[in-house]
This record gives sequence, C-alpha cells and structure tokens, in this order.
Amino acid sequence: MSKVTVVGAGNVGATVANVLAHKDIVNEVVLLDIRGDFAKGKALDSWQQAPIDYYSTKLTGTDNYRDTKGSDIVVITAGIPRKPGMSRDDLISTNAGIVSSVTKSILKYSKNPIIIVVSNPLDVMTYAAFKASGLKPNRVFGMAGILDTARYRAFLATELQVSPKEIQAVLMGGHGDTMVPLPRYTTVAGIPVLEMIDRDKLKAIVERTKKGGGELVKLMGTSAWYAPGAAAAQMVEAIVKDENRIFPCCTFLNGEYGLKKIFLGVPVKLGKEGIKEVLELKLNKSETKLLHKSADAVKSVMKTFDKMNIK
Ligand code: LAC
Repeated sequence: MSKVTVVGAGNVGATVANVLAHKDIVNEVVLLDIRGDFAKGKALDSWQQAPIDYYSTKLTGTDNYRDTKGSDIVVITAGIPRKPGMSRDDLISTNAGIVSSVTKSILKYSKNPIIIVVSNPLDVMTYAAFKASGLKPNRVFGMAGILDTARYRAFLATELQVSPKEIQAVLMGGHGDTMVPLPRYTTVAGIPVLEMIDRDKLKAIVERTKKGGGELVKLMGTSAWYAPGAAAAQMVEAIVKDENRIFPCCTFLNGEYGLKKIFLGVPVKLGKEGIKEVLELKLNKSETKLLHKSADAVKSVMKTFDKMNIK
C-alpha cells in the first residue's frame, strides 16, 4: 500500500520507476519532471509495458507537485548529469539549488516521507535534502554504495568467471574517486576473495571501481542509469518490505567511525523506518585512514555547499 514519487524523469529517474514497477511491490509510482509533459510520456510508456511484463503498479507522470501528495517514499534524481571531463563535485553549483527546492516542494504535499537521494554530488546532495526537509536523519539518505559495490562485484565476477550472484562485498566512503572498496570484507560464495585472486589484479579492480562512474561517462558522454536506477529501486524494496537488508548507503554519521556531522557511505540496516542502524565494522588502521580521507573530500564539498547559503 505504498505510493512512491520519483523526481526527475531523465535516464536514472525513468529507470527507477520502470524497475520498481516490474517488482510489483507498490501501488503507485508518480514520476515528476518540470519539463512539461515529459514525465507523462515516460510513465505512459512504462504503463504500456505492464500488459507485456505483467505488473499492476499504477504509473503516472506529472509536472505538478500536487500529484505527489501523500507519498511514502520519494526518490530524488533531479539535476544535471556529468559530461566527460567533469567530476561529480562540478555539478554542485547547479544541483544544490535544484535538490533543495525539490525537497521543499515535496514536503508541501507529503508530511513525513522517506527520501532517497540519487542526484550528484551524492553525499552533499543528501545533506542538502536533509537540511531542506527538516526530517529525521533516518528518513533521508543517499544511493551510492549499492551501485559502487555492484560495479566492484561485476568486475570481480568477470575476472573470476563466476556468477555476479556469488560476490558479496562491502564498500564505504563518499561517492567519488576516494570511495573505499574493502577486499577484507569481500567474499565469493563465502570464500574470502583474497584466497581467490592475485593481489595485483584485485588492486586494479579496486582502482577501476573508484572511477567506475567516470568510465561510463567517457563511454556514453553522459552518466549511467541502468545500475543506478536498479540500485535505488532495491532500496525502495527493502523499505516497502521492511526487509532489514544490509546495504552501504549514504547516511548521517554522528560519531560512528570517528566521524561527526557528515553524510557518508557506510553499511546500514534498511527497513520500514528507513535507516534502522548504522553498522560499525572493525576497520583496521589503513582502512580507517582511507575512510577518513574520503570523509575529508566530502567535507570540503559540504563547505562549498554551506557557503552557497541556499535558503
Ligand atoms: C554514477 C553516477 C550515477 O556513478 O553517479 O554512475
């Protein structure tokens, strides 16, 4: 009995709505985009796929926030994507204002939604949505870790010639080149990956993962959407079904891992109320150092955001 709004009907937003509809786990998905009838077209196209792929989730598109009234979950994908040569942080001057105003418009029509942020620079846009919303921190968080971990798992699956289903992993930190894949917490069907792959190959995969988003921007001239969209839909599923799944998500830290007042990717338990728990792993010294370095990178973008003084 859930209503989900997806803001932004670009490649990522449309994919979130479409994947979510295929899961057939919510009553209604509203796709919103400020570009006139664009979201209406995307939603209608997805709805016309329902008789073929067999789902009942009602899909509608709109450019009016009134239609988002009473949303339980809102996925924010609004903003511009990267072009080749740009870092995610370069998007802040455009996307910070967009994410803040989207959040305020959403809150006009839904009192206590759970907000999942997908817009970049992810960690700081999650902070922006949190600030603009006035919601509790367990209800505002960001999608990045599932995507980045999926890239890492996919690269490992190719290298080891096993199904991607067998690869489990943890990855922490910001959604940028300082992200921290954690080989010590990576397994292949329960077997530590360090027993299955040589160190140099693993190191190369870790490095490729860190720049995984950029690799796709280079190939396509814009950023990715299938895996990002599926990752956000998986978070919605965990919430709707109250699954208590453990995912790396961008969440508010207040002392965990020695980090305070920052939104950063860490493993969390995800269910009905959003983030139920932040899991604190026993990181070793070098892992902690990498995580703190990533936190510093996010903090400097947070500072830029604060200086923008968006009301
Ligand atoms: C990426 C974008 C969604 O990593 O940040 O592909």
